[in-house]
Amino acid sequence: MAERESRIVAVANEKGGVGKTAMVINLGAALVKKKKRVLIVDMDPQHNAGSGLGIEAGEDDISVYDLISEPGKYRAEDAVCRTKWEGLDLVASHTDLSGAEVELVDQQGRENRLKSAIENLFDLYDAVLMDSPPSLSLLTINVFAACREVLVPCQTQPYAFRALEDLFDTVDAVRKDINSELRLSGLVPTFYETRTRVSRMILERMQADERYRDYLYNTVIRSNTTIAASSEAGKPVVFYRSTSNGARDFTALAEEFIRRAPS
Ligand SMILES: Nc1ncnc2c1ncn2[C@@H]1O[C@H](COP(=O)(O)OP(=O)(O)O)[C@@H](O)[C@H]1O
Ligand SMILES: [Mg+2]
Repeated sequence: MAERESRIVAVANEKGGVGKTAMVINLGAALVKKKKRVLIVDMDPQHNAGSGLGIEAGEDDISVYDLISEPGKYRAEDAVCRTKWEGLDLVASHTDLSGAEVELVDQQGRENRLKSAIENLFDLYDAVLMDSPPSLSLLTINVFAACREVLVPCQTQPYAFRALEDLFDTVDAVRKDINSELRLSGLVPTFYETRTRVSRMILERMQADERYRDYLYNTVIRSNTTIAASSEAGKPVVFYRSTSNGARDFTALAEEFIRRAPS
């Protein structure tokens, strides 16, 4: 039997603070707890994914910036950092990545730099989860060009709900122009406040809206301070406090992510 394809996933939303980085770290770790091999690729110059995994890359370490700014100079394997958790690896970001936009602007094939740099790692993992910056920059386009799926965390807040339309349009445009393999694979409500009316209202709108309902996950990530605390401590929440609501929600998310594998 042919081996299953790896899941290559962009976690993206043009808004900041919607839970992208938390999703990359915590979904990744929850998958690893289920014996999956996971690579996290941090394409945000703010490198919060690395910090949340307890990794502070040094100046001599090879980052994703090195891989995309000087193609062919480094081997992707040498940019892989092992975390403390077996099966959970990281290709780290670097603050210099914020300059890549300008550096790459006149270069041929600039949208495909990331893909060409790391695609030979894909087969080594069950899932590759890519974190992206909170803007539609060339970095995000590189993430979309390298991935097969887009998983969208969306805050259960009115402004976040309204912004979804633009994001869906962006993914359509990327599919047409750059990567015909790219598909939206899920929309995950985040920062859900069980007791507030506005959270419930936005969730109901997502469920009712024909643009979104087929993509909507059943799993909802509740607001849970343990998620922020675990990230500060440099540990995914499932390893930091396995009985917290955050750990439960991300475990449920991992189960649903596995179930929803594209056929
Ligand atoms: N479900 C949640 N409940 C509480 N805090 C959260 C949750 N998800 C993320 N956070 C915290 O909120 C902040 C923003 O989340 P983050 O994942 O960094 O967003 P983004 O990557 O989209 O900018 C971070 O401090 C993070 O630890
Ligand atoms: Mg982030």
